[in-house]
Amino acid sequence: MDPLILIEQLNYTYPDGKVALQDISLNVNRGEKVAIVGANGAGKSTLLLHINGVLRGKGTIRVDGLECNTSNLGLIRAKVGVVFQNPDDQLFSITVYDDIAYGPRYQGLSREEIDQRVNKALRAVQMDAFGDRNPYRLSGGEKKRIAIATVLSMDPDILVFDEPTAGLDPRARRELIQLLQTLPQTLMIATHDLDLVELLTERMIIMNNGRIVADGPARLLLKEEELLLEHGLK
Ligand SMILES: Nc1ncnc2c1ncn2[C@@H]1O[C@H](COP(=O)(O)OP(=O)(O)OP(=O)(O)O)[C@@H](O)[C@H]1O
Ligand SMILES: [Mg+2]
Repeated sequence: MDPLILIEQLNYTYPDGKVALQDISLNVNRGEKVAIVGANGAGKSTLLLHINGVLRGKGTIRVDGLECNTSNLGLIRAKVGVVFQNPDDQLFSITVYDDIAYGPRYQGLSREEIDQRVNKALRAVQMDAFGDRNPYRLSGGEKKRIAIATVLSMDPDILVFDEPTAGLDPRARRELIQLLQTLPQTLMIATHDLDLVELLTERMIIMNNGRIVADGPARLLLKEEELLLEHGLK
Protein backbone atom coordinates (compact mmCIF):
# COMPACT_ATOMS: atom_id res chain seq x y z
CA MET A 1 0.00 0.00 0.00
CA ASP A 2 1.20 3.51 -0.83
CA PRO A 3 2.15 5.85 1.98
CA LEU A 4 -0.20 8.84 2.32
CA ILE A 5 2.44 11.14 0.80
CA LEU A 6 4.99 9.70 -1.59
CA ILE A 7 7.76 11.88 -3.02
CA GLU A 8 10.37 10.35 -5.31
CA GLN A 9 13.35 12.05 -6.88
CA LEU A 10 11.81 15.51 -6.76
CA ASN A 11 13.85 18.29 -8.30
CA TYR A 12 12.79 21.90 -8.65
CA THR A 13 14.49 24.92 -10.19
CA TYR A 14 12.86 28.37 -9.94
CA PRO A 15 12.31 30.18 -13.26
CA ASP A 16 15.32 32.42 -12.53
CA GLY A 17 17.61 29.36 -12.48
CA LYS A 18 17.86 28.92 -8.69
CA VAL A 19 18.04 25.20 -7.95
CA ALA A 20 15.84 24.85 -4.85
CA LEU A 21 15.20 21.08 -4.51
CA GLN A 22 17.54 18.25 -5.46
CA ASP A 23 16.67 14.54 -5.44
CA ILE A 24 14.12 14.75 -2.64
CA SER A 25 12.62 11.38 -1.76
CA LEU A 26 10.43 10.83 1.28
CA ASN A 27 7.32 8.99 2.35
CA VAL A 28 4.87 10.01 5.02
CA ASN A 29 2.36 7.58 6.51
CA ARG A 30 -1.13 8.46 7.65
CA GLY A 31 -1.12 10.05 11.09
CA GLU A 32 2.58 10.88 11.11
CA LYS A 33 3.68 14.29 12.38
CA VAL A 34 6.79 15.44 10.58
CA ALA A 35 8.94 18.54 11.13
CA ILE A 36 11.05 19.93 8.31
CA VAL A 37 13.91 22.03 9.59
CA GLY A 38 16.96 23.72 8.11
CA ALA A 39 18.56 27.11 7.66
CA ASN A 40 16.97 30.00 5.75
CA GLY A 41 16.89 29.12 2.05
CA ALA A 42 17.26 25.36 2.63
CA GLY A 43 14.16 24.64 0.52
CA LYS A 44 11.51 23.92 3.17
CA SER A 45 8.80 26.20 1.81
CA THR A 46 9.55 25.14 -1.75
CA LEU A 47 9.06 21.51 -0.77
CA LEU A 48 5.78 22.19 1.05
CA LEU A 49 4.40 24.08 -1.94
CA HIS A 50 4.79 20.91 -4.01
CA ILE A 51 2.56 18.82 -1.77
CA ASN A 52 -0.65 20.49 -2.96
CA GLY A 53 0.61 21.29 -6.43
CA VAL A 54 1.26 25.04 -6.07
CA LEU A 55 4.71 24.32 -7.52
CA ARG A 56 5.37 21.49 -9.96
CA GLY A 57 8.86 20.04 -10.13
CA LYS A 58 10.40 17.06 -11.88
CA GLY A 59 9.84 13.73 -10.17
CA THR A 60 6.92 11.87 -8.63
CA ILE A 61 4.50 13.07 -5.98
CA ARG A 62 1.48 11.03 -4.96
CA VAL A 63 -1.00 11.99 -2.29
CA ASP A 64 -3.22 9.13 -1.10
CA GLY A 65 -2.34 7.33 -4.32
CA LEU A 66 -3.24 10.29 -6.55
CA GLU A 67 -0.57 11.50 -8.92
CA CYS A 68 -0.06 15.23 -8.47
CA ASN A 69 -1.02 16.34 -11.98
CA THR A 70 -3.40 18.91 -13.42
CA SER A 71 -6.41 16.60 -13.58
CA ASN A 72 -6.05 15.55 -9.92
CA LEU A 73 -5.31 19.00 -8.54
CA GLY A 74 -8.84 19.65 -7.21
CA LEU A 75 -8.93 16.29 -5.39
CA ILE A 76 -5.46 16.79 -3.98
CA ARG A 77 -6.26 20.28 -2.70
CA ALA A 78 -9.27 18.86 -0.87
CA LYS A 79 -6.93 16.40 0.87
CA VAL A 80 -4.07 18.78 1.64
CA GLY A 81 -4.63 22.01 3.57
CA VAL A 82 -1.72 24.43 3.50
CA VAL A 83 -1.32 27.14 6.13
CA PHE A 84 1.13 29.73 4.79
CA GLN A 85 3.61 31.52 6.97
CA ASN A 86 1.91 34.86 6.46
CA PRO A 87 -1.83 34.78 7.32
CA ASP A 88 -2.40 37.78 5.04
CA ASP A 89 -1.84 35.37 2.11
CA GLN A 90 -4.79 33.33 3.36
CA LEU A 91 -7.38 35.84 4.54
CA PHE A 92 -9.29 37.94 2.02
CA SER A 93 -12.97 38.16 3.04
CA ILE A 94 -14.90 40.88 4.85
CA THR A 95 -15.59 38.63 7.82
CA VAL A 96 -13.79 35.82 9.56
CA TYR A 97 -16.89 33.67 8.97
CA ASP A 98 -16.70 34.13 5.19
CA ASP A 99 -13.02 33.31 5.11
CA ILE A 100 -13.60 30.03 6.97
CA ALA A 101 -16.74 29.25 4.91
CA TYR A 102 -14.92 29.80 1.62
CA GLY A 103 -13.57 26.25 1.27
CA PRO A 104 -16.78 24.44 2.31
CA ARG A 105 -18.80 26.71 -0.04
CA TYR A 106 -16.41 25.87 -2.85
CA GLN A 107 -16.93 22.18 -2.04
CA GLY A 108 -20.66 22.77 -2.64
CA LEU A 109 -21.85 21.86 0.87
CA SER A 110 -25.29 22.85 2.14
CA ARG A 111 -25.77 25.98 4.20
CA GLU A 112 -26.23 23.92 7.40
CA GLU A 113 -23.12 21.88 6.73
CA ILE A 114 -21.14 25.02 6.01
CA ASP A 115 -22.35 26.57 9.25
CA GLN A 116 -21.37 23.44 11.20
CA ARG A 117 -17.92 23.32 9.59
CA VAL A 118 -17.25 27.00 10.33
CA ASN A 119 -18.36 26.76 13.94
CA LYS A 120 -16.37 23.58 14.52
CA ALA A 121 -13.24 25.17 13.04
CA LEU A 122 -13.71 28.34 15.13
CA ARG A 123 -14.07 26.23 18.27
CA ALA A 124 -10.95 24.22 17.41
CA VAL A 125 -8.85 27.39 17.33
CA GLN A 126 -10.68 28.88 20.33
CA MET A 127 -12.00 31.83 18.35
CA ASP A 128 -15.76 31.16 18.68
CA ALA A 129 -16.65 34.79 19.20
CA PHE A 130 -14.75 36.11 16.18
CA GLY A 131 -17.01 35.08 13.27
CA ASP A 132 -18.27 38.61 12.58
CA ARG A 133 -14.92 40.32 12.89
CA ASN A 134 -12.92 41.72 9.99
CA PRO A 135 -9.87 39.49 9.53
CA TYR A 136 -7.66 42.47 8.75
CA ARG A 137 -8.38 43.98 12.16
CA LEU A 138 -7.00 41.12 14.20
CA SER A 139 -3.67 40.66 15.91
CA GLY A 140 -0.99 38.51 14.28
CA GLY A 141 -1.68 35.52 16.52
CA GLU A 142 -5.46 35.83 16.02
CA LYS A 143 -4.95 35.96 12.26
CA LYS A 144 -2.82 32.86 12.44
CA ARG A 145 -5.57 30.99 14.28
CA ILE A 146 -8.14 32.07 11.72
CA ALA A 147 -5.81 31.05 8.87
CA ILE A 148 -5.64 27.59 10.47
CA ALA A 149 -9.45 27.53 10.81
CA THR A 150 -9.86 28.30 7.07
CA VAL A 151 -8.00 25.08 6.37
CA LEU A 152 -9.60 22.95 9.14
CA SER A 153 -13.07 23.76 7.78
CA MET A 154 -12.23 21.86 4.60
CA ASP A 155 -11.57 18.76 6.71
CA PRO A 156 -8.36 17.75 4.92
CA ASP A 157 -6.41 14.53 5.62
CA ILE A 158 -3.09 16.34 5.60
CA LEU A 159 -2.20 19.66 7.17
CA VAL A 160 0.88 21.50 6.00
CA PHE A 161 2.18 24.40 8.07
CA ASP A 162 4.92 26.84 7.14
CA GLU A 163 6.45 28.36 10.30
CA PRO A 164 3.28 28.15 12.40
CA THR A 165 4.79 29.66 15.54
CA ALA A 166 6.75 32.52 13.93
CA GLY A 167 5.69 35.90 15.27
CA LEU A 168 3.54 34.59 18.10
CA ASP A 169 3.88 35.72 21.69
CA PRO A 170 4.84 32.98 24.17
CA ARG A 171 1.28 32.33 25.27
CA ALA A 172 -0.15 32.27 21.74
CA ARG A 173 2.71 30.00 20.75
CA ARG A 174 2.05 27.58 23.59
CA GLU A 175 -1.68 27.56 22.81
CA LEU A 176 -0.98 26.92 19.14
CA ILE A 177 1.29 24.00 19.95
CA GLN A 178 -1.44 22.63 22.23
CA LEU A 179 -3.93 23.00 19.39
CA LEU A 180 -1.63 21.20 16.97
CA GLN A 181 -1.19 18.40 19.52
CA THR A 182 -4.95 17.77 19.45
CA LEU A 183 -5.21 17.51 15.66
CA PRO A 184 -5.63 13.94 14.40
CA GLN A 185 -4.47 14.75 10.87
CA THR A 186 -1.15 13.95 9.28
CA LEU A 187 1.03 17.02 9.82
CA MET A 188 4.00 18.40 7.91
CA ILE A 189 5.50 21.47 9.53
CA ALA A 190 8.38 23.63 8.35
CA THR A 191 9.84 25.34 11.38
CA HIS A 192 12.85 26.85 13.11
CA ASP A 193 11.21 26.18 16.46
CA LEU A 194 12.94 23.13 17.96
CA ASP A 195 10.71 23.26 21.05
CA LEU A 196 7.76 22.72 18.78
CA VAL A 197 9.57 19.75 17.25
CA GLU A 198 10.24 18.31 20.67
CA LEU A 199 6.67 18.80 21.86
CA LEU A 200 4.85 17.78 18.70
CA THR A 201 6.55 15.76 16.00
CA GLU A 202 8.04 12.31 16.31
CA ARG A 203 9.95 12.66 13.04
CA MET A 204 12.34 15.34 11.88
CA ILE A 205 13.78 15.99 8.44
CA ILE A 206 16.77 18.31 8.10
CA MET A 207 17.24 20.10 4.78
CA ASN A 208 20.29 21.92 3.48
CA ASN A 209 20.79 23.48 0.06
CA GLY A 210 17.73 21.81 -1.42
CA ARG A 211 18.61 18.35 -0.17
CA ILE A 212 17.51 16.13 2.71
CA VAL A 213 20.54 15.60 4.93
CA ALA A 214 18.86 13.76 7.82
CA ASP A 215 15.51 12.05 8.36
CA GLY A 216 14.78 10.21 11.57
CA PRO A 217 13.23 10.19 15.04
CA ALA A 218 13.14 13.76 16.38
CA ARG A 219 14.13 12.68 19.89
CA LEU A 220 17.41 11.27 18.49
CA LEU A 221 18.23 14.04 15.98
CA LEU A 222 17.53 16.74 18.59
CA LYS A 223 20.44 15.35 20.61
CA GLU A 224 22.91 15.71 17.72
CA GLU A 225 24.38 19.06 18.80
CA GLU A 226 26.92 19.24 15.99
CA LEU A 227 24.42 18.40 13.29
CA LEU A 228 22.04 21.07 14.62
CA LEU A 229 24.82 23.67 14.81
CA GLU A 230 26.01 22.84 11.31
CA HIS A 231 22.54 23.56 9.91
CA GLY A 232 21.99 26.79 11.79
CA LEU A 233 19.39 25.28 14.07
CA LYS A 234 21.13 26.21 17.31
N1 LIG B 1 10.21 32.77 -6.16
C1 LIG B 1 11.50 32.44 -6.11
N2 LIG B 1 12.30 32.66 -7.17
C2 LIG B 1 13.61 32.33 -7.13
N3 LIG B 1 14.21 31.74 -6.07
C3 LIG B 1 13.44 31.51 -4.99
C4 LIG B 1 12.06 31.84 -4.94
N4 LIG B 1 11.58 31.48 -3.74
C5 LIG B 1 12.61 30.96 -3.06
N5 LIG B 1 13.73 30.96 -3.81
C6 LIG B 1 15.07 30.45 -3.45
O1 LIG B 1 14.97 29.03 -3.30
C7 LIG B 1 15.73 28.60 -2.17
C8 LIG B 1 14.83 27.87 -1.20
O2 LIG B 1 13.91 28.80 -0.67
P1 LIG B 1 12.78 28.39 0.37
O3 LIG B 1 11.86 29.54 0.49
O4 LIG B 1 12.20 27.08 -0.02
O5 LIG B 1 13.66 28.20 1.70
P2 LIG B 1 13.20 27.93 3.19
O6 LIG B 1 13.92 26.71 3.66
O7 LIG B 1 11.72 27.91 3.28
O8 LIG B 1 13.80 29.17 3.97
P3 LIG B 1 13.23 30.05 5.23
O9 LIG B 1 13.68 29.34 6.45
O10 LIG B 1 13.94 31.34 5.07
O11 LIG B 1 11.75 30.16 5.09
C9 LIG B 1 16.38 29.87 -1.60
O12 LIG B 1 17.68 29.95 -2.09
C10 LIG B 1 15.54 30.99 -2.13
O13 LIG B 1 16.31 32.16 -2.31
MG1 LIG C 1 10.33 29.16 4.18
